[in-house]
Amino acid sequence: MGSSVGEGDSPSGPVVASHARAVTDDAPVRPRDDFLVFGSPLIGEEEKREILDCLETGWIGTGPKVARFEEDFRHYKHAEHAVAVHSCTAALHLSLLAAGIGQGDEVITTPITFGATANAILHTGGRPVLADVDARTLNIDPAQVEARITDRTAAILPVHFAGRPCDLDAITAIAERHGLRVIEDCAHAVETLYHGRHVGTFGDFGCFSFYVTKNLTTAEGGMILTRDEEAAGRVRMLALHGLTRDAWKRFSDEGYKHYKVAACGFKYNMIDLQAALGIHQLRRLEESWERRRQVWDTYQAAFADLPLTLPADPDPETRHAYHLYTVLVDRDAAGLTRDEFLVAITAENIGVGVHYESLPTHPYYQESLGWRSEDYPNSHWIGERTVSLPLSAKLEDRDVDDVIRAVRKIVAPR
Ligand SMILES: Cc1ncc(COP(=O)(O)O)c(C=O)c1O
Repeated sequence: MGSSVGEGDSPSGPVVASHARAVTDDAPVRPRDDFLVFGSPLIGEEEKREILDCLETGWIGTGPKVARFEEDFRHYKHAEHAVAVHSCTAALHLSLLAAGIGQGDEVITTPITFGATANAILHTGGRPVLADVDARTLNIDPAQVEARITDRTAAILPVHFAGRPCDLDAITAIAERHGLRVIEDCAHAVETLYHGRHVGTFGDFGCFSFYVTKNLTTAEGGMILTRDEEAAGRVRMLALHGLTRDAWKRFSDEGYKHYKVAACGFKYNMIDLQAALGIHQLRRLEESWERRRQVWDTYQAAFADLPLTLPADPDPETRHAYHLYTVLVDRDAAGLTRDEFLVAITAENIGVGVHYESLPTHPYYQESLGWRSEDYPNSHWIGERTVSLPLSAKLEDRDVDDVIRAVRKIVAPR
């Protein structure tokens, strides 16, 4: 396993602001009644006014604000078609269906992801097949993808983990060589660029999450991007019961419109109450990205002398979305296990996350698919050691100082 990138690069020690409170060893870094919640969203006055507008106009379901959010997002991502849905899980499910994935088809994905990625494949009747990650980037390793291809392989589903783009040149080349579809899981990657181009526009479909902790939140929500007009129409129809086009307008002032059920669809539509948040979250996206970049850089400098594996710096000619700041805690180096670290930092009243325990460690996949974690050694190693520190645009300097002091209280410098 590689050493921490940035190690020795920075002369900076911990950043301790002048207003830092005196901390004794037995007092937690933060008081209990001021617990730092992991991934707490930054919601502005504009979002509140837009929500109020929904309530006052009565447009609380799928309506004009969803259409506006789709158009704004499509424009931001330089995409051809955008369809808003209720979650990234729904986006993945519909994209896989529209890509023609069905019974017995194999879809290659990563073990370092949320269960939703694999579950969406299973819901189509397809079978998720895992390819191990690269230990430095934590993204799917193209060589491992190629090694897993069989005559049943139909698609590749890469996840741009933590907001770092996958090796899309290699992945799209493999897909082309083998005639495979590509569905990008961009749940962490709204702002991510690869060689100057937005991720989510490389594959046949790009799927985004607007869950509470994400860089852009609509509380729950998702978006599908695609170049293919027909596929866009198909996912839009499937997202609303399989009803024919514009069924959401059937009670509007344009007069009653008949709809027809054209497919056995789902209830995956986004509603205006969600889009009301999204429209303004999107406008604040770059500002929020800049704040998270500062926090990320501050952590990199502050932890450079600690025996932790820090995230690799962003790769050249890419833009990282800075969604997650993950460190690896290895007992041999740090003197405590990841789980002991989780307990210790929670006792300092700092909320953290785990992204992710390797998928094969979950009983459902072991029992139904026969997966064994040891078969994916990099993911297994990472999954037992990874922890995500707070990285939200809402963090104040005081919060960042508290995270740094808590980590340094738990892990001694080398
Ligand atoms: C990598 C990844 N894929 C998919 C999802 C599912 O997103 P949603 O909660 O919007 O369905 C998540 C959610 O956390 C995720 O992190």
